[in-house]
Amino acid sequence: MSIRVGLGPVAGPKKDCDTIRNVIMNEAIRVESLVKRFGSLTAVDQVSFTVEQGEIFGILGPNGAGKTTTLEIIEGLQTPTGGTVTVLGLDIVKHARQVKARIGVQLQSSAYFDYLSLKEILALLGTFYPKHMAPDTLLDQVGLLDKSGSKINQLSGGQKQRFTVAASLINDPELVILDEPTTGLDPQARRNVWGLIRQIHDRNSTVVLTTHYMEEAEALCDRLAIMHQGKLVAIDTPRNLIDQLEATYTVKLVMSRPLSESQVASLNGGVEFVQNLDDTSYLLRLRNTPAALGTVLDEIARNDMSLERLEITPVTLEDVFLELTGNELQD
Ligand SMILES: Nc1ncnc2c1ncn2[C@@H]1O[C@H](COP(=O)(O)OP(=O)(O)O)[C@@H](O)[C@H]1O
Ligand SMILES: [Mg+2]
Repeated sequence: MSIRVGLGPVAGPKKDCDTIRNVIMNEAIRVESLVKRFGSLTAVDQVSFTVEQGEIFGILGPNGAGKTTTLEIIEGLQTPTGGTVTVLGLDIVKHARQVKARIGVQLQSSAYFDYLSLKEILALLGTFYPKHMAPDTLLDQVGLLDKSGSKINQLSGGQKQRFTVAASLINDPELVILDEPTTGLDPQARRNVWGLIRQIHDRNSTVVLTTHYMEEAEALCDRLAIMHQGKLVAIDTPRNLIDQLEATYTVKLVMSRPLSESQVASLNGGVEFVQNLDDTSYLLRLRNTPAALGTVLDEIARNDMSLERLEITPVTLEDVFLELTGNELQD
């Protein structure tokens, strides 16, 4: 199994000036060897990637992976310890003001004025920018026009989240950055936000989002960077990341009692990967499913292992994450 790893500087062939300019013109974001340290903690550790104009680009990783810190540096809200970040062709450290006028940002947690209506908040935010959208147009776009006179605390979780997305669009941005836009939402509200993100994307904006939900990353993103403990461990399309596992199905075995080392080893013949999830659950990844599954079940019967439950599912990004890091993505 081989998964392309995105460590180190962005490599590429030597280019003449015109080509370099074209590359930069098509890039919404270029992050090179980015490092951010908080005291002895390295929150972002030599991260490099590019986001093309018009992409929905996802950063997937568990809590504490360094996603928000990476985004906040891209947004000009934090200064990097090392490395460079170029946003819409401009160096973020040197040109933060110009960049901020052209990007839309939804922070992981936002606070607005409790005593203003949704429409008034958007009107106020609009005054911060030379170019801004009409509040009603934005509220309509996120399905909250009928709530334009409501206060924030009168909205449901999903409506609040849609409002923060509307607020991030106030300056008609070329690039929209959303930090965990669906965390804490129920499945229906989450799907509504997905629809909204696709609409924003269709209007010619590049979208960058973070998530720790692999279904979300799979459903929405053209390309994904997987982060773990400050490092970028893989970057590709969701399909390629899954295909690089070289297994098509995951089999979860739940046993009535823990297996011995030799029993685990006996399952290893003919399968891609065995992982101990807890005392009695084991994950296997199979390439040639019917034949390999037959072998595994024969071993179980032959070695007197008592099987309580068997689950077979197609491999997902969750398996990619597990393979790359040895940890499960979701808590
Ligand atoms: N201002 C800060 N001061 C100290 N540590 C921080 C600060 N911001 C983030 N961290 C730490 O950096 C790591 C990455 O955090 P963060 O970027 O928020 O991760 P994520 O968004 O992936 O959950 C975490 O260990 C977090 O506790
Ligand atoms: Mg975060």
